[in-house]
Amino acid sequence: MLPFRFIMPLDLGAKGSCQIGGNVSTNAGGLRLLRYGSLHGNVLGLEAVTANGEVLDMLSTLRKDNTGYDLKHLFIGSEGSLGIVTKVSILTPPKLSSVNVAFLACKDYFSCQKLLLEAKRKLGEILSAFEFLDEQSMTLALNYLEGVRNPLPPPLHNFYILIETTGSNESYDKEKLEAFLLGAMERDLISDGIVAQDIQQASSVWRIREGIPEALTRAGVTYKYDLSLPVDKINDLVKEMRNRLGNLATVVAYGHLGDGNLHLNISASQYDDAILAQIEPFVYEWTSKNQGSISAEHGLGLMKANKILYSKSPLTVQVMASIKKLLDPNGILNPYKVLPQSMVA
Ligand code: LAC
Ligand code: ZN
Repeated sequence: MLPFRFIMPLDLGAKGSCQIGGNVSTNAGGLRLLRYGSLHGNVLGLEAVTANGEVLDMLSTLRKDNTGYDLKHLFIGSEGSLGIVTKVSILTPPKLSSVNVAFLACKDYFSCQKLLLEAKRKLGEILSAFEFLDEQSMTLALNYLEGVRNPLPPPLHNFYILIETTGSNESYDKEKLEAFLLGAMERDLISDGIVAQDIQQASSVWRIREGIPEALTRAGVTYKYDLSLPVDKINDLVKEMRNRLGNLATVVAYGHLGDGNLHLNISASQYDDAILAQIEPFVYEWTSKNQGSISAEHGLGLMKANKILYSKSPLTVQVMASIKKLLDPNGILNPYKVLPQSMVA
């Protein structure tokens, strides 16, 4: 009998060190959310331990279950503030055999945007990742990650896009990808690019993208922002941030373009109040004004708990605070995180 082969729908750069309970508690997004959706869709059931030590058994494996409130969702993405996730059942898609990775260069952000629309239309159901990084991200990866090299010849380009397709039919998938790439070249959306010729090349391309957080850590200190924005707004914020900071710090932009998720990182040699004053509250106000979210996939944690009102209405946050008080009346679960202390104390 053939072995049943399945994959985790969640994949992320931290896969070597993170834990599934933490992934679920933070509703981690990662590299394939575009294809498989968020953990709110993929977690079929879970078990959580509440603040008073009771074990809440919601460990269903059903796709459909409309009996009352779907409480498991309270524990997905609440960052351990309502209970500790101790077991999960996860919907695992079949592992498909035909995977292709393309690494492309774009001259400007508008081309990246158009390329995304084209990829959705032309690659359709086989598209499994659409990631972007800017020239500053590439420079960091090349300077700080061991063994990393740019698969595209110099000069550096303004933007790089990593596209992955995952399907079940090699020749059909290749044909689709080639037609898409040809169309993109004809429309001048890409200025250079490669399709990985083997698994080694595919993983070395992924290494560039997945290694950026590590490169940032090596480069110095980083102010990190994990934002959801309308795709057409992402680069406006990056440009404004560069204007504000001048040569005080380096603005590094990369992320999950297919999900409208920008990782905006400001890299500097040391933390400096003058830098912070240029970033905050501007970045939160800008995101709020453009209907974005100040925490796309990483969570609010300690540092952003007080910023929640930039993305959620006061009444919504009040309801959250009531739930927190109901499930954790003494505030012992991950205190000071997620919600402003003034609302839960
Ligand atoms: C990434 C992490 C930082 O996308 O979310 O690399
Ligand atoms: Zn990410």
